[in-house]
Amino acid sequence: MKILGISAGTLNGANDSMCKEALMGAQEAGAEIEFINLHRLDIKHCTGCIACVKALMGGRGRICAIKDDFLWLLDKMLDADGILMVSPIFENGTPGIVHTICDRFGPSMDRGNLTIADMLNKQNGGPGVDPRLLQDKVISFMAVGGSDWGSLVQMDHGMVAMSPMWKIIDNDKFQWSKTILMDDAALARAHQVGVNLANAAKDIPNATWQGEEGVCPHCHCNNFFIEPGTTHAICGLCGLEGELEVDGGSIRIVYPADKLYLAHDTMSGKMKHGEDIQENEGRLAELQKNSPEFKARKKKYMDFIKPSVPARA
Ligand SMILES: Cc1cc2nc3c(=O)[nH]c(=O)nc-3n(C[C@H](O)[C@H](O)[C@H](O)COP(=O)(O)O)c2cc1C
Repeated sequence: MKILGISAGTLNGANDSMCKEALMGAQEAGAEIEFINLHRLDIKHCTGCIACVKALMGGRGRICAIKDDFLWLLDKMLDADGILMVSPIFENGTPGIVHTICDRFGPSMDRGNLTIADMLNKQNGGPGVDPRLLQDKVISFMAVGGSDWGSLVQMDHGMVAMSPMWKIIDNDKFQWSKTILMDDAALARAHQVGVNLANAAKDIPNATWQGEEGVCPHCHCNNFFIEPGTTHAICGLCGLEGELEVDGGSIRIVYPADKLYLAHDTMSGKMKHGEDIQENEGRLAELQKNSPEFKARKKKYMDFIKPSVPARA
């Protein structure tokens, strides 16, 4: 059983140390371990070209138009049974590099799309998608902040697990952490996160969330979009929509039972989302093919002004 630790902090900084402390715990629990610092890799931003999902659905496998170290990293992730991601808190959330990894997962790492692509490819006599893409996996997160700003980071981290539908075991945050190496309680907690992850990876079908219950009774997220002037609340992570109630002094969100199938981290939710996107893409394709008005509007903006770029030698 293999646990891959990924740090998004500076080389040998607090995040690397916390990641390694957790890896020590995972190793004690019987895991083979590997460590990656994201800043040693060349990872570029997703441009949104969607070549990956077109290739996937067209039976051409998992490709990316950008040539850098991302597919190497993805390969490492797919070979692991459990992943530990440790990120510095930037502007309350995860740093850009973590968002980039999330983006690079893209629609082609979406478990719903992968399931459909696998089925279509096999129906056409192909081998199906790389089976590692459809395997269950466990993942834990730790966020390390230098101050007390960190209200978005657990939601951002949870989003990393959303496309591939990996099971989250722990999702912790540590604040005022510049001197965390002297904080024995924080180090012990990191160690425990590693032990929990390794134990979860030994029995993935029965692995369960080990963290504290959150406000969202479905995904444990504490971030919600509250529609102004209403009690209508949308979970920032799983997207479930419910009503906000105050119960014994604490807020809870109540979801209608018949809407639970829409949660973004469930196969039913992914399929519904996929259908909605497909319908919308169909409308766009129709306009691109048959609408002179659409073409004229597009040309208006293309011709209006070209983007400035720096002069290069
Ligand atoms: C651009 C930037 C934004 C930051 N924003 C936050 C923040 O919102 N909240 C916080 O607690 N720390 C913030 N920090 C502090 C970092 O979280 C801290 O420097 C980092 O965890 C140190 O990790 P390292 O030693 O592994 O590099 C920020 C640091 C930088 C460089």
